[in-house]
Amino acid sequence: MANLPIIQFEEKIVETVEKNPVVVIIGETGSGKSTQLSQILHRKGYTRSGIIAVTQPRRVAAVSISRRVAQELGVRLGEEVGYAIRFEDRTSEKTCIKYLIDGVLLRESLSNPELNQYSVIILDEAHERSLNTDILLGLMKRLIKMRASNLKVLITSATLDGEKVSRFFSNCPILNVPGKLFPVEIFYNMERPKSYLESSLKTAIDIHVREPEGDVLIFMTGQDDIEKLVKKLEERVQSLEEGSCMDAVILPLHGSLPPELQVRVFSPPPPNCRRFIVATNIAETSLTVDGVVYVIDSGYVKQRQYNPSTGMYSLDVVQISRVQADQRAGRAGRTLPGKCYRLYPSMVYHEELLDATVPEIQRSSLAGTVLYLKSLDLPDMDILKFDFLDPPSSESLEDALKQLYLIDAIDENGSISSIGRTMAELPLEPSLSRTLMEANEYGCLSQALTVAAMLSAETTLLPGRSKSTEKKRKHDSSDLPNGSGWGDHIQLLQIYELWDQTDYDVDWCKDNNLQVRGMKFVRDVRKQLSQIMQKIAKGSLDVRTNERRKESQEDYRNLRKSLSVGYANQLAERMIRHNGYRTLGFKPQLVQVHPSSVLRTDEEGMLPNYVVYHELISTSRPFMRNVCAVEMPWVMPILKKLEKLNISKLSGGSGQSEEQTEGDKSSLPKKDDVNVARPVDDRD
Ligand code: CDP
Repeated sequence: MANLPIIQFEEKIVETVEKNPVVVIIGETGSGKSTQLSQILHRKGYTRSGIIAVTQPRRVAAVSISRRVAQELGVRLGEEVGYAIRFEDRTSEKTCIKYLIDGVLLRESLSNPELNQYSVIILDEAHERSLNTDILLGLMKRLIKMRASNLKVLITSATLDGEKVSRFFSNCPILNVPGKLFPVEIFYNMERPKSYLESSLKTAIDIHVREPEGDVLIFMTGQDDIEKLVKKLEERVQSLEEGSCMDAVILPLHGSLPPELQVRVFSPPPPNCRRFIVATNIAETSLTVDGVVYVIDSGYVKQRQYNPSTGMYSLDVVQISRVQADQRAGRAGRTLPGKCYRLYPSMVYHEELLDATVPEIQRSSLAGTVLYLKSLDLPDMDILKFDFLDPPSSESLEDALKQLYLIDAIDENGSISSIGRTMAELPLEPSLSRTLMEANEYGCLSQALTVAAMLSAETTLLPGRSKSTEKKRKHDSSDLPNGSGWGDHIQLLQIYELWDQTDYDVDWCKDNNLQVRGMKFVRDVRKQLSQIMQKIAKGSLDVRTNERRKESQEDYRNLRKSLSVGYANQLAERMIRHNGYRTLGFKPQLVQVHPSSVLRTDEEGMLPNYVVYHELISTSRPFMRNVCAVEMPWVMPILKKLEKLNISKLSGGSGQSEEQTEGDKSSLPKKDDVNVARPVDDRD
């Protein structure tokens, strides 16, 4: 710790922070920003007047870095040093250094707009440009005006354009912490490989056979490819002649890995053993793995993109930016001179790659963000004029406003409603928080809480959400309930209900191919959501939230009805001629039920006429994931509302032309007015 580059700058940092309310700190990944800055300011006494908050865009980093800091300070995690991520708060009265997910800090500011409990707020990893960190940047600007005398804000980044952030904060000082990077030799492929998995495998084995000791870090795009490569590498390493090269350990590293497996990358390898770490872009800047001398860079990253004009998500494998390529290469030169093998030609690096990664705010659905901003009640608050470092498109802001209007979170003039205010307090996406509120009215809150918790934890429920495991859920789990013909939400409810009846039996989960950790997480999330709902409703909730009993058809009906209100913007009508559905939004799309759905049946006649869906995802084709049958009489009021919608009023008359307004008014889909979304390559 003492030899981390940032420690040499301790005095300078303290001096600059003392004199300025906002400081930007740029330092090479691994220089000690995440683990040391909080400790430096703690030593200087900043925790006497409040807590030091360090925000992280990724859950994994918040947990692992706080664990490390607790270790360095010799305290128990959760006491002086703690972390708070969505649905998990490991802090106590004693906590004075708190690592938290950026979204958690946003939510805290709803109940305490001045964030008075904090003396220092460090926005870490700002270069990741996560949606929530971007919003926090705008919020900090306001907060500094209110609390200039007793709040310090630090913005740290590995690569960020420091000048731009400094300008955003009235030219605040920028401190550069030079890292001690060793030279990294770059090798390019002559051409792009047909399979970057095979090419990574070959390069890794070549390194193992020919190169001196040093760990190898391989960047892949996602869990599926990581698992495949780990398996292939294991086989190949085992097939090498015994004694021909040193031993090898192969470790995966990605966001959905259980914490106990993640920490393995931080312990040093046994002597005379080379580690192969097969990682997603999480190892680019979020987590620093020591001992890496060789980097293999596929040149790709998996990115979730939202298209506001279709309401559709796609999980695209896209080229990394040049900044990312440099970061990846830099991982090789932390302890010794290193080598980076780029599996693409140098022309691609120099001419094809974007300079920097597109910030998340420009590729996400903004309904939750806009609702949050509206609920802050900032004076003169025009959402379209919020102070963003890089503004989102007006199209995605309008898409968010329309969605919020349809689910009653804002009124036709764009003002937040009391429903909207309550929704903003729930740590859920707007569709689910609206569903919970409606379910409370219909007396099925207990069931809706289960569904919301199951959906929130879905990624950890199954051994992975890859194509193969999606199929597994359908075929291997034939003992699991089938949603009684009403779809996935009801199935999720029934699965939880069965587990509940076994008294949360671990073996039952294993027998049914469900991750025990995931199911326990659901139970925990459900409890927390129930407590938040109790708090919001000040005890006036449906008393049955904790009662254990078997669901009736009436409960299912009420739940489906509540879902139709929460998902009013995610509605689709059966189109028998097209053998699929047509979304009933502003720009209708032809879509299909996702193959993983329980509603997907070979007997076409069985499909319901109207459904709501949790999300639209464009892979080989546009699909609706997690689908629930709803009834025509529930759909009618939504269609009426759609007809009345006037976007220029919603966004406060923000620069919309007359024609656009007219166009949007008649936004009710016509039968022939259907777009088919462009399919994308799904290499998940
Ligand atoms: O934030 P920055 O990238 O500048 O560095 P850091 O995350 O503070 O990492 C500083 C050192 O702590 C590195 O050598 C990491 O390998 C180590 N570290 C660790 O061993 N375990 C963690 N969970 C986090 C960091």
